[in-house]
Amino acid sequence: MNRKLKFISVVGARPNFMKVAPLHRAFSKIESIEHLIVHTGQHYDNNMSKVFFDDLELPKPDVYLGVGSGTHAEQTAKVMVEFEKVLAKERPDLIIVVGDVNSTVACSLTASKLLIPVAHVEAGLRSFDRTMPEEINRMVTDVLSDFLFVTEESGVVNLKHEGISEKKIFLVGDVMIDSLMMYREKAKKSAISYQLFPQTGSSTAISGQQSEVSPRSYTLVTLHRPSNVDEKKNMETILKIFKGIEGLGKIVFPIHPRTRKRIEEFGLSSQFAGVKNLVLVDPLGYLDFLNLMMDARIILTDSGGIQEESTFLNVPCITMRENTERPVTIEVGTNVLAGLSVNKVVSLAEECYAGKWKKSSVPELWDGKAAERIAEVLHNSFEEHPFVVSQKNTEELNP
Ligand code: UD1
Repeated sequence: MNRKLKFISVVGARPNFMKVAPLHRAFSKIESIEHLIVHTGQHYDNNMSKVFFDDLELPKPDVYLGVGSGTHAEQTAKVMVEFEKVLAKERPDLIIVVGDVNSTVACSLTASKLLIPVAHVEAGLRSFDRTMPEEINRMVTDVLSDFLFVTEESGVVNLKHEGISEKKIFLVGDVMIDSLMMYREKAKKSAISYQLFPQTGSSTAISGQQSEVSPRSYTLVTLHRPSNVDEKKNMETILKIFKGIEGLGKIVFPIHPRTRKRIEEFGLSSQFAGVKNLVLVDPLGYLDFLNLMMDARIILTDSGGIQEESTFLNVPCITMRENTERPVTIEVGTNVLAGLSVNKVVSLAEECYAGKWKKSSVPELWDGKAAERIAEVLHNSFEEHPFVVSQKNTEELNP
């Protein structure tokens, strides 16, 4: 091809940034690809967005849509309206969406209607639980995508069951692990544990500081799923869980804006403040959070990505959900599902502090090279069949 290919990657919410960073790096190495980043603005607070661009050395987005919060329909629709204008102006050869947030589905739908090819990174994951908004986003995005890049074997099986042509499916590994491997050493230098435990510091926080709060002496928590935090009785259960584990060690809880809001609305702030050993902090940047994950005794979470990161880091993880779309983290990794059962979570945490946990290994292809594989597949596909791939494009936009 004589002209450069134009690819647009979409980021919107916090878990997207660490996935697009390695892709950006991989595309930058290919002369024939021009890569733009569009930020929908689904997440907009500095600590939910900008800090990740800094930590991950991502360039400022080429376009910022400033969509903000809203109901699902409002947020999705606003992204579609604004993204359509970008596509009309830029006329890319391909858009790349990652993960399962509202911005992911909104942009794939917009591009598909304009006959622009879509690549979905982290395709095929299924919780089989349609009460999760992310499950709907995953299914719709996958059915619309032309390239489906998959992190684990279960994703390939799911996509084949859904009748997706094998030719579109590529098992490439996990771009989030690419970022983790790239920034692991830098994250070790973060001073976050020294800031959180000021009297003591941590052995890895600042070289030369002596540690009393040693690595593996605290529980790290993240919770933000609507199914866990949007109902008062569930937040009360979470409170009971915290009470049940407060004797084991510090509980570090970087709190998502959704969760903070709910705790305030439910009038539970003072009860959370009364949990012994609970260290509540604002959402953290990538390097600080990675530092805390690496040194945690155990992680309690309802996040998708953290199940994968903890498996890679060989840190025990209790997932406070009934299901996971990432079964490999249970089958070979450190992850265990516990739902919102106080007994289960507390007894698992106790076992972990007693030094008992299952043996785990790192899933196949989680080796830091997923983004390179994706870039290679895309580059080769466009080289080999430029017209076939990009014929979807121009007519519709250039009537
Ligand atoms: C979204 C994703 C979820 C992902 C999570 C990571 C969807 C459906 N959900 O959930 O998959 O795991 O991001 O964080 O796309 N808010 C702020 N500041 C911000 C962003 C949000 O205060 O920068 C508040 C808003 O008041 C908003 C609430 O948090 O109402 C929830 O934000 P939203 O983007 O709707 O969903 P998340 O719960 O963050």
